[in-house]
Amino acid sequence: MDNDTAGRKRVLVTSALPYANGDIHLGHLLEVVQTDIYVRYHRLRGDDVLYVCADDTHGTPIEISALRLGITPEELIDKARENHIRDYSGYNISFDIYYTTNSDENRRYAELIYDNLRKSGLVVEKEISQYYCAHDKRFLPDRFIVGTCPRCKAAKQYGDVCEACGATYEPTDIIEPACGICGNAPQMRKSTHIYVQLSKREEFLREYINRAGVLQSDMRNFVKTWIDEGLKEWCISRDGPYFGFKIPGTENKFFYVWMDAPIGYLSSTERYCTDNGGSAMDYWKKGGDAEVVHFIGKDIVYFHALFWPVMLDSSEFTLPTSLRIHGFLNIQGEKMSKSRGTFILAREYIEKVSHPQAAEFLRFYYGSKLSPTSADLDLNKDELITRVNATLINNIGNLHHRSMVFCERYFDGRVPDAAWDTEIAAQVEAAADEIGGWYESGDYKLAAEKIHALGSVGNKYFQDSKPWESIKSGDKNAAAAVVVTCVNLIKALIVFLKPVTPKLCAEFEKQLGVDLKWGDYRFSLSNHPVNSVDKLASPLGDEHLSALFTPAAEL
Ligand code: MSP
Ligand code: ZN
Repeated sequence: MDNDTAGRKRVLVTSALPYANGDIHLGHLLEVVQTDIYVRYHRLRGDDVLYVCADDTHGTPIEISALRLGITPEELIDKARENHIRDYSGYNISFDIYYTTNSDENRRYAELIYDNLRKSGLVVEKEISQYYCAHDKRFLPDRFIVGTCPRCKAAKQYGDVCEACGATYEPTDIIEPACGICGNAPQMRKSTHIYVQLSKREEFLREYINRAGVLQSDMRNFVKTWIDEGLKEWCISRDGPYFGFKIPGTENKFFYVWMDAPIGYLSSTERYCTDNGGSAMDYWKKGGDAEVVHFIGKDIVYFHALFWPVMLDSSEFTLPTSLRIHGFLNIQGEKMSKSRGTFILAREYIEKVSHPQAAEFLRFYYGSKLSPTSADLDLNKDELITRVNATLINNIGNLHHRSMVFCERYFDGRVPDAAWDTEIAAQVEAAADEIGGWYESGDYKLAAEKIHALGSVGNKYFQDSKPWESIKSGDKNAAAAVVVTCVNLIKALIVFLKPVTPKLCAEFEKQLGVDLKWGDYRFSLSNHPVNSVDKLASPLGDEHLSALFTPAAEL
């Protein structure tokens, strides 16, 4: 059985598309690191994998932000995309393309899917009443209505939810509604809107969510409950002015941002293929051989598990093979909050953590904690220090350095020409499929634990074998056997770690002049030149993190 050769399968992988009107924070990073580990693992295996992401650029909040800044929405989203790309590159996120939903490709696919939804008889029009601001000349989305909560009477609450008591309600229930832009009282106005009748596809959706691998079991029941409660009609239109795509055949209606956002996965694939060869249909055609894997947070499951499959199916595109749903990132046990000073931006972490490997360490921390559940995950300062030092410094780093120093000092700068310990080689061999399986299933935590355990085996073996005594007593062959074993073991651990900490692993590859693929976990090096010896990582301490974790109030 040789399952680590090239061309195993074709996989399209995505992370959710971040809104263009916000900065990238450590919660977004949890998602892209989770995705990037999966992508890098598949690349290492030689799979044909494409990692696609983009900015989600449409909607009222973006339009209003631009208005307030005195710039056009296009200027706003261009700047945001530049910032997002810069922030992600600081963490080595290996997108094949980071595109935008405000593209010609996306408009074409949105129109195509809309047309097919109509042809399938899923689209209806209805007249509804909505708040309208005569001063701003626009209909007001829920978030742009403010007023007093009908339940707890807290002032200055949004039109759909009270942040004081948690009540949710219709914007018409709010007391003394005011326009969130200008503060004037809105009026009620009638407007016709376009709806997708999801309930007509209930049987299809029930079958889809039960397919093996589509949803984690904790999420499947959740989604099933939504279907049981009755699928509501989904409004996909908004009145202008709106920053988005005009709906063909209407006067002043635009596609709701959540209509064209997931289509961004498709249109970004298309753009990648236009620039690099191939066709988007290599990945998206119904009945094709590609897998489509979406990594998303637990807050956007409804869109991905119910709306999106109906959209795709109407146009004969393939359905997502798997939705990988993660929980939310908390910081030091608390929700990220600007006022409590626990809201950490991606670039802020890099600026404030005074350690050159800060980004790599965060990747490792996330990797060592992630598993395929939607449970929330905590970023804790002490735990970050402990995990990084325990595995990367004291375990792997230590084994690496002591073995390489031996090559340098006693074996003329070469991995010695000797036979390795076959028992340790067999342990690695046995672990490889298991670790690969965990990367595939999203159990990165288990992979990290296994890698750590193998590192401990190596350190104990080195310690027990005492190669320094063999050298002293003139038994160079005995020392050579230990060193060749440990260097090969480290090589295997570096292969296993490559999806998680690519930069640290590249440093090892440079030292040995190798470019490791998955199959290189097998012991193979002897009588091989060592280019240079340097530590792979330096310890992380409290002092590196103090600027980041100082609560705002104490500054
Ligand atoms: N634009 C939509 C997604 C459209 S996908 C077709 C959106 N954007 S977002 O910027 O709000 O969130 C992007 C992703 O980041 C989502 O998957 C969301 O769950 C995730 N996260 C946002 N905050 C998060 C945390 N605090 N923790 C973990 N993930 C978080 O939703
Ligand atoms: Zn107004």
